[in-house]
Amino acid sequence: MPFKPIERLIDEEKIQKRVAELGQVISRDYAGKEPVMVGVLKGCLVFMSDLIRHINLPLEVEFISAASYRKGVHPDKNIEIADAMTIELSGRDILVVEGIVETGRTVSRIVQRIRDLEPASVEIVTLLDKPSAHRPGIELKYKGFKLGNEFVVGYGLDNTQKFRNLPYIGRVSENP
Ligand code: IMP
Ligand code: MG
Repeated sequence: MPFKPIERLIDEEKIQKRVAELGQVISRDYAGKEPVMVGVLKGCLVFMSDLIRHINLPLEVEFISAASYRKGVHPDKNIEIADAMTIELSGRDILVVEGIVETGRTVSRIVQRIRDLEPASVEIVTLLDKPSAHRPGIELKYKGFKLGNEFVVGYGLDNTQKFRNLPYIGRVSENP
């Protein structure tokens, strides 16, 4: 079945340039450290694999998974978090890697879970951010691009599990 029509918002070249910049800033900020990059599946998939190749540090990679979905017309998303982490995070410098932050509830839940493990530090890097949808108290140290309140797909992000393989960020030409 062919893809539904997609309007391109951020092309490959622009994404690659920004991801390289983020990698350079992170390499500088964490110089002398050995951070653990904790990717939030599945949306981090493409972003994280590109980002880590622009970080010139002896980093380690770990994953946690978050699924969020709306129940009927209820505006709040249900969030399910699961992990099979094997790296000991206590005392480590943690960088949580997200594809997109909307209200910030998902990433806040993950940061809380990691803080319970008593790391040395925890920061967040997200490719995309929707600042106008944030709940109070969300602190994102590294951000790729700001968006309005639009639903986007591609470069790891899905609409009902599809479109993650698009190399660019786009908007589906119908409601998600
Ligand atoms: P939050 O908990 O409200 O910050 O929502 C974040 C989660 O919702 C992300 O991890 C995605 O799974 C999903 N999400 C939010 N906005 C979008 C979007 O525009 N496209 C695809 N997924 C999104
Ligand atoms: Mg999703």
